[in-house]
Amino acid sequence: MESADLAACGALLAERHRRHLMVEPLLSVRFCEVGAAVREVTAAFETTDASGAVALRDGVPVGFVLGAPKSSPLWGPNVWVEAAGLAATDGEVMRDLYAMAAARWVGEGRTAHYVLVPAYDAELVRAWFRLGFGQQHAHGVRPAVRTRAGGELNGLTVRRAVRADIRALAELDLELPRHQGASPTFSSGVVSTLEENLAEWEESFADDGFATFVAEVDGDVLGSAIGCALEKSSTHLSLARLDNAGFLGFAAVFPHARGRGAGRALGAAVIDWAVDSGFDSVVTDWRVTNLLASRTWPTLGFTETFLRLHRTVAT
Ligand SMILES: CC(C)(COP(=O)(O)OP(=O)(O)OC[C@H]1O[C@@H](n2cnc3c(N)ncnc32)[C@H](O)[C@@H]1OP(=O)(O)O)[C@@H](O)C(=O)NCCC(=O)NCCS
Repeated sequence: MESADLAACGALLAERHRRHLMVEPLLSVRFCEVGAAVREVTAAFETTDASGAVALRDGVPVGFVLGAPKSSPLWGPNVWVEAAGLAATDGEVMRDLYAMAAARWVGEGRTAHYVLVPAYDAELVRAWFRLGFGQQHAHGVRPAVRTRAGGELNGLTVRRAVRADIRALAELDLELPRHQGASPTFSSGVVSTLEENLAEWEESFADDGFATFVAEVDGDVLGSAIGCALEKSSTHLSLARLDNAGFLGFAAVFPHARGRGAGRALGAAVIDWAVDSGFDSVVTDWRVTNLLASRTWPTLGFTETFLRLHRTVAT
């Protein structure tokens, strides 16, 4: 892929996004405009060590794939195809594109491949599945509409966190990596200590860019959730960034209290906060192998926008 290809790739991407928007109207309309889509492909192309492939049929571009490595050791020797990194007129073209691009990636020793695919395009998703990929993660959205879940539920109340909750918040921060480190996710991510979490909460508690909620029964905090503007997220970028969206950025319930409605009530509190803050939609994301999160967020009305697919090439 060369810089001369960027205009045609941007046009293919804008068309992909236009079709995506017909299914998911909460996506940003901005990227249906070819100029905006070209800028996104160009940014992907200019990422350090980016490479990819373009497909032509009778001299006309019909697809592209474009990936680049992330430096975090979390992802292994990797290449990521982000939201602006692929478009094709049909699934078979995408399989040819991957075949060409992946030869170079694996040749460079980059054997862990991640790709963000629009969820609406079943043919495209199936093409990636038939390249040995499986689903790792989901991005989801729902309209910012009040949940009507307020009030007490089995003695459970949800309220904004206060400084006296900092210890419980720091302990709850340990629960997500603990849960995701276990089967069947096997992926704890960055694991911090309780002391580090306490120090971070002490420093950041007053930051009014984040709305922190706790769920409690009889004065005991059982869980927490955090809302903020989607701009604060480092994972919802480019075509996956929605305009004027709130973000459910974190939630955890202590293991002994799970399955009794606290997680749902916390998620609902963040959604209602997003409504009150004037956002048009609420975005979140989850590991699809995280059985608890992947069952909870869809019950709150989140539907998938982008799927992160993953393959490790065993050489
Ligand atoms: C995810 C988490 C916050 C949810 O909290 P929770 O208190 O356990 O969830 P709830 O009791 O409110 O249940 C949520 C929904 O999942 C559904 N659910 C739970 N177990 C289920 C199962 N085995 N099969 C189908 N649905 C199930 C519940 O029925 C409920 O939906 P409903 O209200 O429509 O009935 C909590 O389990 C947790 O802390 N997990 C570990 C950390 C984590 O994964 N955080 C989220 C990161 S994205």
